[in-house]
Amino acid sequence: HAARISAFPSCLSCNNYSAILKTFITMLTANEILQKINSYLDNMPYERKPQSLYDPIKYVLSMGGKRIRPSLVLMAYNLYKDDPESILSQACGLEIYHNYTLLHDDLMDNAAMRRGHQTVHVKWNANTAVLSGDSMYVLAFKRMAQSAPDKVKPVLDTFIETALQVGEGQQYDMDFEKRTDVTEEEYIEMIRLKTSVLLACALKIGAVLAGASESDADNLYKFGEQIGLAFQLQDDYLDVYGDPKVFGKAIGGDILCNKKTYMLINAYNRADEARRNELVKWITATDFNPEEKIKAVTSIYNELGIDRLAEDRIKYYFEQSRKYLDLVSVDDERKSVLRAYTDAMMGRKA
Ligand code: IPE
Ligand code: IPE
Ligand code: MG
Ligand code: MG
Ligand code: MG
Repeated sequence: HAARISAFPSCLSCNNYSAILKTFITMLTANEILQKINSYLDNMPYERKPQSLYDPIKYVLSMGGKRIRPSLVLMAYNLYKDDPESILSQACGLEIYHNYTLLHDDLMDNAAMRRGHQTVHVKWNANTAVLSGDSMYVLAFKRMAQSAPDKVKPVLDTFIETALQVGEGQQYDMDFEKRTDVTEEEYIEMIRLKTSVLLACALKIGAVLAGASESDADNLYKFGEQIGLAFQLQDDYLDVYGDPKVFGKAIGGDILCNKKTYMLINAYNRADEARRNELVKWITATDFNPEEKIKAVTSIYNELGIDRLAEDRIKYYFEQSRKYLDLVSVDDERKSVLRAYTDAMMGRKA
């Protein structure tokens, strides 16, 4: 310590020094936040029966995951207050909710692997994924409702609206599988609903619990919304170009389901007649070799430069998000944890 101070003697006379030091001492780092979330989830009691209902819940919550949503809750709260431990229940409630959507999503998307492990409907069966998922939904509400009396209503209002929107986004996602005329605009609205609003809700709930102003809570919400669009675009990109060992999910799942992603929509719109016919052939084929389909569609993406197009779009939404974080009326140093965390999110491979 002494060495550090003597190395920067001029700082001792700097007026900002103690303010900056205070900021860093009282705020948790992203790693400390992650540890607290994981330890809360690991120590959650499973006292109820039957075990066959709760084992899959324990399983999915114990196999990792980035814990982005609860981290955002705690980081938003930590912009204003120094005791983020006090809202772990709500933060982890949101993670439980997210994991519930994954159980159902993997069933709907016919996905066999998540976080490098077998999905619940494969390890157990479809009924288990449905029912354990339903119970997680309830467990999430239970934790959300454990807020201070004056915060219960605003927190639940935000969470309920978000959960309804996620369901709507997931339904559009399913409906779009059967359509061939989905526009880019429709796609963006679909991913806003299925993915963005949950990241936005995480930030807003953190702000609301900390007693932030309405305009700060709204700007944090909009920040999350733009980050969320970049995040889902990136997920769709990694579904084609990711490394399954790092990504933890099978590559090409979206292509096999005929998901109308940004990549497929743009490939279709930019293709010449021959390539468009080939895309249509693969999308309408009922009897095909999965590997062959993934390879053929990916080749068309590569030929049309869809990878670069998607990368640019990801960057665009990410840059848009910055405007809203800048509007939040908190000292810049205090925003540094959240800013660095979301910066790192954008370079993710998992
Ligand atoms: C997966 O979310 C579902 C999407 C919205 C793309 P994450 O990529 O946050 O998954 P985990 O929780 O880290 O596994
Ligand atoms: C996930 O979209 C959205 C929700 C889970 C609500 P994806 O279907 O792309 O997510 P992954 O790729 O399976 O994680
Ligand atoms: Mg999926
Ligand atoms: Mg899905
Ligand atoms: Mg995906």
